[in-house]
Amino acid sequence: MIELAHVSKFFGDEAAVDDISLRVAKGKFCALVGTSGCGKSTTLRMINRLIEHSAGDILVDGQNIQSYNPVKLRRRIGYVIQSTGLFPHWTVARNIGLVPRLLKWPRETVLARVEELMNLLGLPVEEFAHKYPHQLSGGQAQRVGVARALAADPDILLMDEPFGALDPITRENLQDELAKLQARLNKTVVFVTHDMDEALKLADHLVVMRSGRIVQQGTPLALLQHPADPFVDSLLGGLERGLKQAALTRVRDHMASLGQTLPAQSRIPAEFSLRQALSMMLRDHCDRLTVVDQQDMPIGELSLRKIVKEAQLDKVGARDAY
Ligand SMILES: Nc1ncnc2c1ncn2[C@@H]1O[C@H](COP(=O)(O)OP(=O)(O)OP(=O)(O)O)[C@@H](O)[C@H]1O
Ligand SMILES: [Mg+2]
Repeated sequence: MIELAHVSKFFGDEAAVDDISLRVAKGKFCALVGTSGCGKSTTLRMINRLIEHSAGDILVDGQNIQSYNPVKLRRRIGYVIQSTGLFPHWTVARNIGLVPRLLKWPRETVLARVEELMNLLGLPVEEFAHKYPHQLSGGQAQRVGVARALAADPDILLMDEPFGALDPITRENLQDELAKLQARLNKTVVFVTHDMDEALKLADHLVVMRSGRIVQQGTPLALLQHPADPFVDSLLGGLERGLKQAALTRVRDHMASLGQTLPAQSRIPAEFSLRQALSMMLRDHCDRLTVVDQQDMPIGELSLRKIVKEAQLDKVGARDAY
């Protein structure tokens, strides 16, 4: 869906992006991470031609973006920025309906679409449709920004630190909503974040940048297991890498069948992560847990020994495991 081949961007003599190549297949979630100033935002903005690249080729849906009309291209691509970029003197409903109105959708269709998106993102219409951006909390404004980016049903979403300034709980809720939305609507997403846990949780494909170059790319688990160099290692958490891998691995995939011995007191749902299991063992001073299904019925057990000795932490998809 998106392909960058040997793409560079120069500002004067300085390369902000230096010969990067990457592909994002349709329906996949790509996260760009790296230290400040390494070229993440520039990369995003070249994809929707808010910035013109200096060298290389960028293809969207197999077609070179130079051959698209920039305005038409941008309407196919939703773009969310950290500061939300909402129009302050427009209501929430009007902000969300911006692109469909520009596309001259019939008024009734726009209204229906705005209502649909507000419901999808947990913004009750009666409560929020008539509010102005300054009357919203940061998290509500972020939701409006995401709703607006989705309004004309673009195939591609570019998101530049969209959940930057949120508290951890709101942030986690929005991450979960985004993951569900993306899976359900089959959007192709390129996402920039400074939060490594967020990147690991959401991404199918993780791209680590440094000084305008791509240092390493691959699945989150592949990078956690084999960081290319000390920079990637420390960005991914250094000593914490083991726990981050455990966070991407489900209890279900490592439990044993129920034994003859008395079941352990502490219970953990099968869909939880091994990281949560380890934490529960530390909290409850035990080295065995009873694994339960959604009805709280015991279906297996998990031992510390098994996690440490046998766990091949590379077997499951990152997304489901969290
Ligand atoms: N319009 C511009 N003119 C000149 N230099 C620019 C311009 N935009 C960005 N740069 C430079 O390009 C480099 C990459 O910037 P970019 O905004 O892509 O970084 P970033 O990875 O998004 O950083 P951050 O995490 O801080 O948002 C920086 O060194 C920046 O100073
Ligand atoms: Mg940036």
